[in-house]
Amino acid sequence: MSTSRIAYAVIGGTGLYQLPGLENIERVSVDTPYGKPSGEVVCGDFHGRRFAFLARHGENHSVAPHRVNYRANVHALHQLGAGAVIGVNAVGGIRDDMGPRVLVIPDQIIDYTHGRLSSFCDVEGAEVQHVDFTEPYTSALREALREGASRAGVTVVDGGCYGATQGPRLETRAEIARMRRDGCDLVGMTGMPEAVLARELELPYACLALVANWAAGCGDAVEISLEEIFAHLDAATAHVPKILATLP
Ligand code: HPA
Repeated sequence: MSTSRIAYAVIGGTGLYQLPGLENIERVSVDTPYGKPSGEVVCGDFHGRRFAFLARHGENHSVAPHRVNYRANVHALHQLGAGAVIGVNAVGGIRDDMGPRVLVIPDQIIDYTHGRLSSFCDVEGAEVQHVDFTEPYTSALREALREGASRAGVTVVDGGCYGATQGPRLETRAEIARMRRDGCDLVGMTGMPEAVLARELELPYACLALVANWAAGCGDAVEISLEEIFAHLDAATAHVPKILATLP
C-alpha cells in the first residue's frame, strides 16, 4: 500500500465511473460504521499525486440517488485520509448561461430531498452537531477547481445555486419553475447530503457540476431525452480529468 497521502478524493456521478489516467491502482474495500460505500475505492497515482476515486452509483450504475449510502461513501474517504473531496455531479441547467455541456462550480445549495440519512449524528448515543453551513462548499477547494480549469483551458461558470431533488424521476415544469423562483440555477439528485456530511467531518468539499440537459421546461424540448442527456454528459465529462490533473 502506498504511504503517500491521498490529496484529493473524487466521487464520480452519472457518466463518470472511473478516473482515466489513474495509475498504480489499488482497489480498497472499506467498511464503515455506517455500512458499505457504493463500491471499492480506487486509489492510485494521478499526475504526480495520490488520488482516490469512488463511483457514487456503483461502477455499473446500480444505486439510485435516493438509495446511495452517502454516509458510508463520505466516511470511507475520510477513513482513507483524503485531504479533500470533489463531488462530480450530473445536473440539469436552469439559469440561462447553464445549458447542456456547461461546467459549473456552484457556491450554494437548496436541499429538497427527504428521508435521506443526512447526518453522522443520526446514531444512538452520538453527540449532536449543528455545523455551520452558511457556505456549503469549501471556498479554497472551489478556488483550486477554478485554477485547475483555467490551467487546463476549460471554461467553467463560477458560482450558482444547486437545488438537490429526491429523484430518481426528473422534475415537473412547475417544480423547476418553483426552484427558479427559489433561486436555484441547477438541479441534481445527489448534491445532498454529501456536502453536509463532508462538513460534519471537516473534510474540504466542493462540487463540479456537469450540465447534461436543460431542466424541465427550461429549453425548447417538450420532453427530456435520456439519449441527449448521455451525449451531453459524455462531452462534459471529458473535461473532468484535465481539470483534476492541473489542480494546485
Ligand atoms: N434533474 C435532476 N437531476 C438531473 C437532471 C435534471 O434535469 N439532469 C441530470 N441530473
